[in-house]
Amino acid sequence: MTAPAATALEPGLAAELRAAVGEAHLLTDPSIVASYETDWTGRFHGRASCVVRPGDTAAVAAVMTAAARAKVTVCVQGGNTGLVGGSVPVDGAVLLSTARLTSLEPVEVAAGQVTAGAGVTLAALQRHVRAAGYDFGVDFAARDSATLGGMAATNAGGERVLRYGTTRAQILGIEAVLADGSVVSRLAGLPKDNTGYDVASLLAGSEGTLGIITRLRLRLVPLLTERAVALVAVDGIAGALTLLQTARNRLPTLEAAELFLADGLALVREKTGLAAPFTAEHPAYLVLECASRTDPTDDLLAALDACDADVLLDATVATDTRGRHTLWAYRESHTEAINAAGVPVKLDVAVPLTALGELVAALPATIAAAAPQARMILFGHINEGNLHVNILNATDRAEAVTDAVLHLVAAHRGSISAEHGVGRAKSRLLHLSRSPQEIAMMRAIRHGLDPDALLNPRVLLDDPPPAEHSPAAANFA
Ligand code: FAD
Ligand code: MLT
Ligand code: ZN
Repeated sequence: MTAPAATALEPGLAAELRAAVGEAHLLTDPSIVASYETDWTGRFHGRASCVVRPGDTAAVAAVMTAAARAKVTVCVQGGNTGLVGGSVPVDGAVLLSTARLTSLEPVEVAAGQVTAGAGVTLAALQRHVRAAGYDFGVDFAARDSATLGGMAATNAGGERVLRYGTTRAQILGIEAVLADGSVVSRLAGLPKDNTGYDVASLLAGSEGTLGIITRLRLRLVPLLTERAVALVAVDGIAGALTLLQTARNRLPTLEAAELFLADGLALVREKTGLAAPFTAEHPAYLVLECASRTDPTDDLLAALDACDADVLLDATVATDTRGRHTLWAYRESHTEAINAAGVPVKLDVAVPLTALGELVAALPATIAAAAPQARMILFGHINEGNLHVNILNATDRAEAVTDAVLHLVAAHRGSISAEHGVGRAKSRLLHLSRSPQEIAMMRAIRHGLDPDALLNPRVLLDDPPPAEHSPAAANFA
């Protein structure tokens, strides 16, 4: 589908933006702007009048002050790895890229904390804090591109939630620029601070609708160098849940428990050339990782030994770096392998563990009824009941298949977004996971901070599009 024509950048605003970020960082060449207009999956497209790349908080504030005066919308983009259409610009907005907000202060060793710019990538943070003997509690496959600002804005989850919680749990403080250009800064990093509303928590998961995060004060975790990874074959969801329970109960060092199924493994192997992990094929697989200061391999092996043979069908354990990376590659390559097979409709849901088996059993028929040609690939973070429902060959039926799956999830007391956020892809279905009172509260907070809905319009809450730009909404259908 063709995106609507871009809104021209008004010369007075252009001059103010240029003054804010410097000539080199106001990008208006359409061929350059275009590289910011499509999301990672290739499904969501939009239009920006220009891209601004501020280098510090003051420059972000100057951009927002100018945009607020001109009543021009601003869309925020970090690493553009988001999967719900929230990172692409709409309505010819000013696209604010956080790519230059890359300040990284020295690790404060006594407190186990660090202050970092919103544009720092997860991998850059990991390198920085590991050199000081610490680690960060969140990790996932997009680490080389995903930024701390984007992770905070989406409250990213990933592979270590089982041990450390989501991104919100790592944030002790935030600095952000609000829609009127004012700066809110709370970076002292006090672990105890009960002086009213928690600004950092409120901004975490707000998906750029309440403010532009510029810096973060982060809690660090101990660097655990001794690691063991198991890839275990099981008979399906029931077996996977039994194995998970055993691993959780017996292994205080357990850090990750990740699920994928036989067809996901086949697709990954087809796209990556990885060898089969076992001689036989199995219905489902779990990746388990233990990490500690002392070698956790014996404990992991003992926990696997404690599983009945009808639950644990096959297993392999790796302790060396290369072997561990190979086992993780079967799981982490899913996203790229799926995208290499076509543009997917990606749904990210969670249900109580007691409902997981029933949901997985009901998904194929639900999807087939809405999109008969569809091909479903399921994987996810099993400990949180978090399934990534990827549907190929269904972009022409995206709305129908999204509706069908998310209604099914709601009927199982689940969440329509476990970790990727709501973005523009699911905002019309927010009522499936949030009560009218909660949505009214969210709208009131948003309206109080941004009465003209200038920041990230139609992300999270489905503010009606301005009439003259309404075709833009179709790009996110
Ligand atoms: P973007 O994609 O640029 O933006 C995401 C949203 O945040 C947008 O709404 C944007 O406007 C807003 N935003 C960005 N920066 C700021 C800021 N500074 N202030 C305010 N708002 C901002 N997600 C998970 O949760 N768990 C996973 O395991 C996981 N694995 C992934 C694996 C792959 C291969 C890929 C491609 C994606 C994965 N994701 C995962 C999704 C994605 O990486 C996360 O949502 C990530 O947090 C997005 O960060 P980003 O910098 O790319 O943000
Ligand atoms: C993952 O867990 O790998 C991700 O959240 C990415 C995806 O859903 O594709
Ligand atoms: Zn995930």
